[in-house]
Amino acid sequence: MNYRHGYHAGNFADVLKHLVLVELLRLLTGKDKKLFVLDTHAGAGGYDLAGGLAARTGEAEGGIARLMAMPRAGMPGAVVRYLAAVAAYDRKFGPAGGALRRYPGSPRLVRAALRPGDRFVACELHPAEALSLKREFAGDRAVEVRQADGYHALKALLPPVERRGLVLIDPPFEAVDEFVTLGRAVKQALRRFATGCYAVWYPIKDEDAVAGFSAGLAGLKAVTLELRLPPSSDGRLAACGLAVINPPWKFEEAMAEALPWVGAALGARPAMATVPASGS
Ligand SMILES: C[S@@+](CC[C@H](N)C(=O)[O-])C[C@H]1O[C@@H](n2cnc3c(N)ncnc32)[C@H](O)[C@@H]1O
Repeated sequence: MNYRHGYHAGNFADVLKHLVLVELLRLLTGKDKKLFVLDTHAGAGGYDLAGGLAARTGEAEGGIARLMAMPRAGMPGAVVRYLAAVAAYDRKFGPAGGALRRYPGSPRLVRAALRPGDRFVACELHPAEALSLKREFAGDRAVEVRQADGYHALKALLPPVERRGLVLIDPPFEAVDEFVTLGRAVKQALRRFATGCYAVWYPIKDEDAVAGFSAGLAGLKAVTLELRLPPSSDGRLAACGLAVINPPWKFEEAMAEALPWVGAALGARPAMATVPASGS
């Protein structure tokens, strides 16, 4: 396990994933019913953009930094809300203004959206990342951090007693067979908790692997959202997607407005597609 999300914090892939996450959380917490959230691959929780690993790659420059610098007038509502969530986290570390100091990982974005009575479990397997995550939420009883395998957590924690849930599955794709593992895990999770909302991140490097994964979604109520930057000469990831299974009402509408806007702002080609019914 060599992957460290800190190198990539706030890049175009985080922008896509976290834009979607913030909107899903908003829509799912809009109902007066308790929500369970599971973040299977949670990372460290929050990231130093001014120094640390992120400063070594500068990936956030082409992602969150670019969006934060844009005028809010005319910005789609979902993008405004995502940027507000990022800014609110950054403000914990000092007064607003100037460049972002810290970027919230998925657990921080989830935590900010939770209401009293909602439940959140964040799993992270890497010992150092899990320790950072535990420190990030030390003393916060609304967050249960587990140093655990997120795929096992899907079996152990689903279905939730709340019967309403959001599951974020965001693996590092270090293993060559991660798409296969992921596809199997999603199928098993759906057998346990068919009505849950799932957001599943994937890299687009091997188009055949992506096509195989997408084919496995056929027949589900699902939508895919993708961003493709021009290919990079240094081998950096240039395209990625998120599959959202059982999206809440109004999600697609919000993303149909936000995704093209974000694509244009980041110089990436956006694509959003509804997963076809089985056999079509
Ligand atoms: C892409 S990063 C997560 C980023 C985070 N979800 C976010 O959006 O801020 C993937 C994380 O999964 C962790 N990881 C790898 N295999 C895991 C497993 N089987 N279970 C849980 N975490 C795992 C890695 O250490 C890494 O921190």
